[in-house]
Order: sequence, then C-alpha cells, then structure tokens
Amino acid sequence: MLIKPAKRLLGTVKVPGDKSISHRAAMIAAIADGESKIENFSTGADCACTVHCLRQLGVEIERSGTSVQVTGVGKTGFKQPDAPLDCGNSGTTMRLLAGILAGQNFESVLTGDSSLRKRPMKRIIEPLRRMGAEIEAETGCAPLRILGRNPLESISYRLPVASAQVKSCVLLAGLNSTGETAVIEPVQTRDHTERMLRGFGGEIVVAESEEGRRISVSGESTLSGRKIDVPSDISGAVFFIVAAVCLEDSGIELPCVGINPTRSEILNVLGDLGVEIEISHQHESCGETAGSLKVKGWGAPQNSLRIAGDRIAGLIDEIPILSVLGTQVVGGIEIRDAVELRTKESDRIAAIVENLRRMGADVEEFEDGLRVGRSKLNGAEIDSFGDHRIAMAFSVAALLAKGDTIIRDAECADISFPDFYETLESVVQR
Ligand code: S3P
Repeated sequence: MLIKPAKRLLGTVKVPGDKSISHRAAMIAAIADGESKIENFSTGADCACTVHCLRQLGVEIERSGTSVQVTGVGKTGFKQPDAPLDCGNSGTTMRLLAGILAGQNFESVLTGDSSLRKRPMKRIIEPLRRMGAEIEAETGCAPLRILGRNPLESISYRLPVASAQVKSCVLLAGLNSTGETAVIEPVQTRDHTERMLRGFGGEIVVAESEEGRRISVSGESTLSGRKIDVPSDISGAVFFIVAAVCLEDSGIELPCVGINPTRSEILNVLGDLGVEIEISHQHESCGETAGSLKVKGWGAPQNSLRIAGDRIAGLIDEIPILSVLGTQVVGGIEIRDAVELRTKESDRIAAIVENLRRMGADVEEFEDGLRVGRSKLNGAEIDSFGDHRIAMAFSVAALLAKGDTIIRDAECADISFPDFYETLESVVQR
C-alpha cells in the first residue's frame, strides 16, 4: 500500500464494531438459550473466525452484513466438531473458546495461523487443567487438543498476567463448573465479558479486595438470548484520532464509539498531552458506554510522557499508534512495563522500533517497552509483520512523514478493520 503525506483529516469516520465485544456477543449468544440479534458486529476477519468456529460446533448463525442472528444451543449444547477449529489470527477466539470447550463432554482441537500457533497458551491451559479439563499442547502453544468435562471443578484463580483473554477463558469455563468460579485480577483489564454475561442474565459478582478485583461467576447461571448493539471499536478509532491530532486544521467526528473506561485510557493519555476531545451523544449500549467523539488538529502536543504500570492494560492495543504519536510530542513518550506486547500478533515492541527507525525516528528499545523522541519522519518501506495494528499505526506515520511510504503486507488490516485504507483516504486532504 502506497501512502502519501497528508495536510489534514476532515469528515466523519465510521469505524467497525468493537472486535472484543463482537467475539463475546457471538460466543455468549451461542451458549445462551434462545435467539440473539447482534447489530454492528465487527466486519474484521478475527470475528469471522469466531462465527465460523461456532458454526462448526453446530450453532446456527445467520449473517447479513453487520447483523448477526444466533440461535443459542445452551451451555452444553455444542456438537463435537469433525475437524480442527481454525481460529486464524485470533487470540481472543482461541482463548475464550477454549474456556467453553473445556466444559463440553467431547474432544476438540483448536488451531490457528503461524502467528497464533506461536502465542503463549500455557496461561489458559494451567487454569483449565486445574478445573479438570485435559489439554494437550506441545511447547505450550496451539494446536490445543481439549478433552472437556462436565461439570468442571470450580476454582479461585489469581491471574499471573494482566490478560482479559485469560480472565474471560476462566469465567466462561466457570459457567459449567460446580459452585462458583472466581478470578482475581491484580490489575484491571477490559471487562466486556463480565458486562456481557450479566446482560445475558449470568450471575456475576464483582468485588474489590486487597488482592485486586475479584470476579465470580456461578455455575448455576442460565443465559437468555437478547439483542445487542455493538459500539464502534475505540482501538480502530484511535488511528484517526491520532492522525487528526497531529495534522493541524483537522476536524473529524467518530460516531458511536465504545468508551468503556477499561478501554479508553488512550483518551486520558491524550488529555495528559493537552489534547481536547469532545464527547457527545453519550449512551449505554449492551452494558457498554458509547459516545460520538470530535477531534481537532493540535499541532505538536506538549509535555513529555512516561506511561507504565497499571495504565498499560487500559491501552495495550493502542501502544503502536501511541509510539507513532511520540514522534510528534515535544518531550517524546516513554512506555514501560509493556513486555506483554512481545506476545501479540507480532513482537510489537520490535516491530514498532524497527519501523520507526526505518522512518528516521529517534527511538530506544527496552525489554519491556520503548522511548520515542520528537522526530521528523521520512517516508520508508514499512513491514507490517502481518500485524494489523502495526500496518494501521504506520499508515498514520506515513501521513505525517516527508515523502512516500510503502506498507508491506498491508492487507492484514482486515483482521479488525476491512476498508481501513479506503476510509482513511476518504477523510485525508493533501
Ligand atoms: C483482548 C484482550 C487483549 C488484547 C486483545 C483483545 C480481548 O489481550 O490485546 O487484542 O478481547 O480480551 P490480552 O488479554 O492477552 O492482554
């Protein structure tokens, strides 16, 4: 993909439905009783993998554009699949589905593409084994062979890594456990599963304790089909927000974006840099808050910024674009305590550092993060490393650079944002 520098962004941007919420909506609707109708379902390839796997498990799903109708089969109603379930590039599909499959009385295999087969799965294997499922996985990675059991034993599990996927896996397994299964998270991660389960009638209790946030689910929970309107994905919106902030005279509007506080730390970071974002039409949708965002060009945001510790979990998917923003911030940006980034769709720390250097930026790599100084960017040849967020973040860097940029393997943006480049072109002025 060839991307030329831009002067400003002007117009309205429609971002696809939230990927994290769409996965959960489809999976929880599948194990609920009765019909569910999901609107604004993510158009990304990751969520298509979830739909495909659920169909292979015997769930009837009708899809027309962004409307998805799911006929739930109940908590133990999946049919044994006759082939491995292909989760593609999607960690959320694999880790959340593993939790549901652990509580089914049959054997199944979860696999994925070459990136997903390298990602760490011990983090879900360990708690699911403790609950009584048998799981085979050479080297702790997919393919995962799961011999489910029903009911599972209930556990109380303290998360060793701040991961919403692991938390969700255990909570979904807990739906098929005897008694009450609890997860304790020392650092709060995105809470879409808790909200969604509650919306379907699941018995969820959240309590703050000295150890952290304790979320418990009752194995007696019954789930009933419902209607869900998925807000647009803040992790997709952020590319346009940052581009508009960095290009003076920009003005864009992003309607109906999810602003769940466990996902919108990026807005607080922008606030710390003195950027004002106007939020209007705020409303609740499937237990999630959404609103329209208005963003104006800001030139060079002031202040240097160091982001570390508990803040990282709230913007884990925004770090590639935040690093690009760092090149435009007067005092630069340092990001630490983010070693988890090395286990995403690519080693994101290495991918960001490599590509920023190719564009001539001043950047320093740490094992757990990076520091980016204010830099003039030059057009370059960028490698997406097959990672959608790297491709999209560096498309924004390309708009800010001098000269043309080529993004290699750019089509991986389809994972979360098909039509990303067309949407970007529709608001770019040169
Ligand atoms: C996600 C959680 C995060 C995030 C991923 C989606 C989810 O992963 O990076 O893109 O939907 O729960 P971890 O839970 O592994 O941090």
